[in-house]
Amino acid sequence: MHKVLFVDDEAFILNAARRLFSLHDIEILTAQSAKEALEIFKKQKISLLVTDQRMPEMLGTELIEQVRKLYPDTVRIILSGYTDLTSLLEAINNGKIFRFIVKPWNDEELLQHVNEALEQFQLNSRHRNQEEQMLLALAQTIELKDAYTKGHCERVARYAIEISKELGLSEEQIKDIRYGAWLHDCGKIGLHEDILNHPGRVEELQMLEIKKHPDNGAKIAEQAALPQRVVNIIRFHHERVDGEGYPLGLNRDNLPLEAKIVAVADVYDALSSDRPYRKACSQRQVKQIMAGFRGCALEEELVDLLMDNIVPRLLAKQESSE
Ligand SMILES: [Fe+2]
Repeated sequence: MHKVLFVDDEAFILNAARRLFSLHDIEILTAQSAKEALEIFKKQKISLLVTDQRMPEMLGTELIEQVRKLYPDTVRIILSGYTDLTSLLEAINNGKIFRFIVKPWNDEELLQHVNEALEQFQLNSRHRNQEEQMLLALAQTIELKDAYTKGHCERVARYAIEISKELGLSEEQIKDIRYGAWLHDCGKIGLHEDILNHPGRVEELQMLEIKKHPDNGAKIAEQAALPQRVVNIIRFHHERVDGEGYPLGLNRDNLPLEAKIVAVADVYDALSSDRPYRKACSQRQVKQIMAGFRGCALEEELVDLLMDNIVPRLLAKQESSE
């Protein structure tokens, strides 16, 4: 069921909205301030935000701006008697709002606007799903070449998303991190299977070939006009915080956060799953090796978040479902 959040500092407006939609198949949530609304957003997936413009603490257009950045899929409507023409025009012209509705509203019209906004939300979601399916399919083609990496992309994405959530990153950032984690090794598509599935350590010449995969992958992502964060993850997932990684030898100060997050997730998954040249490490070994990487290959804080908070939680969940 769709969730629609009404925000207004006047309680009677919120009550009227609740009454109007009580017979419809829509869940109405209400908030009396922008702050309260943002708290609701943290806990629930909201299809449509309908906000008043003039409220104490934060204007409706300011709330809209924050929601647009943090929860871009949510459709946004301003419902207000007050019109500050400049900010209103700016919001409309920059595509920040779907509709502007004048108070007092006409019930029929409001119902129609809300229904159209929900259709728009569904279109956005469908578009997003198609985009995700396509990117995941591209990521999985590389897994077809290399049996040992089966499921690797999705697991790396899962760990990277958990780290991002602990850091309080926005929905938009997390979406890019999911895509980047899925695609981080897409440049391996150009590598010969003999190199990919090589049992044991590869030779120097082969290593030179392998080291091209971050750049090759980043070029594919740039060609596909994927967001910069996704490109960064692909290009920099083998960089190290001590500057000893490849392809550019960046360090903790100039490596983008998204690349550092995926690097931690990638290394953890590589250690805890079978590889062509070795079996998966035990959790105890993984813990030791990850501790050894703190501050040289990987950022300390991110390793700690994963190993101290996330992994124990995921392992406990896995045990309880077995
Ligand atoms: Fe890689």
